[in-house]
Amino acid sequence: MLVSLSGTPGTGKSTAAALLDPEVYETIHMNKLSENHIQGFDGARGSAEVDMETLLEVIGEGKLKIPGNGKKHVIIVGHLSHHLPVDLIIVLRISTKPLEQRLRLRGYSQEKIRENMEAEALSVITIEALNPGSPVYEIDTTQLTPPEVASHIQQIISSPPEPLTGSGDIINFTGEIMEWY
Ligand SMILES: Nc1ncnc2c1ncn2[C@@H]1O[C@H](COP(=O)(O)OP(=O)(O)O)[C@@H](O)[C@H]1O
Ligand SMILES: [Mg+2]
Repeated sequence: MLVSLSGTPGTGKSTAAALLDPEVYETIHMNKLSENHIQGFDGARGSAEVDMETLLEVIGEGKLKIPGNGKKHVIIVGHLSHHLPVDLIIVLRISTKPLEQRLRLRGYSQEKIRENMEAEALSVITIEALNPGSPVYEIDTTQLTPPEVASHIQQIISSPPEPLTGSGDIINFTGEIMEWY
């Protein structure tokens, strides 16, 4: 199965992905995908930003080569990975306060921090993910350790429960916006 592991920057995607059982899961980071696994696409732009338009065009032409290395599941990790044609999408969520702390530690500017807090509070990635029609799942990681997040991911993939049906059952942090002011 081809899986997208998405979520606002700082939600813990890379940390959790590193803890998945390597016998079963091949993990590929989105920026590596554009760098190394696309023919006819110049990924060397000196930036981690992926040109989604070009990437999706290339995928549409069937040129995306995803090396599964014989593993049962391939996980594409990145905050744009939910735009890819995958079988299942998992979006990591987190309360905006701990997100703010993490992004500050990462050295993001105040503007960038606020931008990401807003995106998280407004569930931007989940709403985008619900668009194309692959089953979408969210994990609220706010109270979870990295191994617990990895375990939730593995559970969803190995026996997928009922996916989100629409915007009504999305994890909701909008109430936190009032606490920022
Ligand atoms: N479940 C967790 N609990 C506490 N801290 C975490 C957890 N997951 C990730 N972190 C920390 O949060 C920061 C961002 O995690 P990272 O995996 O790089 O996020 P992403 O890949 O989604 O941008 C890192 O400093 C990481 O150590
Ligand atoms: Mg990451």
